[in-house]
Amino acid sequence: MIYCFSGTGNSQWVAEKLKGLIEDEEDVFGMVFPVYAWGIPKVVGEYINEHKEEIKAAQYVWAVMTCGDNIGYADTILNKRLERKVDAVFSVHMPNTYVCLPGFDVDKDEVATAKVQETLKRLPSIAESIKQKEKKTEVVRGKFAWVKTYVLRWMFNRFLVTDKYFHTNKDCVQCKRCMRGCPLNNITTDDKGKIVWKHENCTGCLRCYHRCPKHAVHFGKFTKNKGQKIHDFD
Ligand SMILES: Cc1cc2nc3c(=O)[nH]c(=O)nc-3n(C[C@H](O)[C@H](O)[C@H](O)COP(=O)(O)O)c2cc1C
Repeated sequence: MIYCFSGTGNSQWVAEKLKGLIEDEEDVFGMVFPVYAWGIPKVVGEYINEHKEEIKAAQYVWAVMTCGDNIGYADTILNKRLERKVDAVFSVHMPNTYVCLPGFDVDKDEVATAKVQETLKRLPSIAESIKQKEKKTEVVRGKFAWVKTYVLRWMFNRFLVTDKYFHTNKDCVQCKRCMRGCPLNNITTDDKGKIVWKHENCTGCLRCYHRCPKHAVHFGKFTKNKGQKIHDFD
């Protein structure tokens, strides 16, 4: 069984490639998802809570986390949530999707393309390790990993995993692509047909932001002058 959560398609693309390289085996549980704030997305944590016994019982558990740069101790957070050590964990670079704080923006085209190429080259060896049921940790933690995961992540989850700053600007043509695409069905329209966020279960994936064909979805003023991810894999 391979579980995948993907906000904007990077992790979905990696999961599809891996599915082409490894056989789905009973007793093996694989996970592919993005790193959020040097930890795991809220929605992945919720999935784990619901399926913990099944995952804990698996003979071999592997995880591939996609990230723009580095993961801090996201693997430790994953182990803690699973109440077991993941047997093999890998981080792979993909185009950055995080744009909501100063200093964070999408990658330049050439950087994004280079990351996809690098990951494409690495996937066969990752798949081989999984097939051989190797125990390994192949991740990029980055500098100040502990502070990122245990201090900044806490602040991020507390104050920035929210849909209350999302809105559409005057360029919105109400095509509803954001609404249809939301993986958590957290976007709707009000009685005037305006796009609104439901304040129910946003996990902060930014699919609504990156997919808008008019670049009309914004997160407060945080995303003013920020780019949209060009790599759309669907
Ligand atoms: C809310 C949020 C937080 C993120 N945090 C990190 C991070 O801590 N480290 C990192 O390298 N990339 C981070 N990123 C970038 C994503 O992990 C990366 O672009 C990933 O491949 C997106 O995958 P997806 O398209 O499947 O959603 C973050 C992206 C978002 C939306």
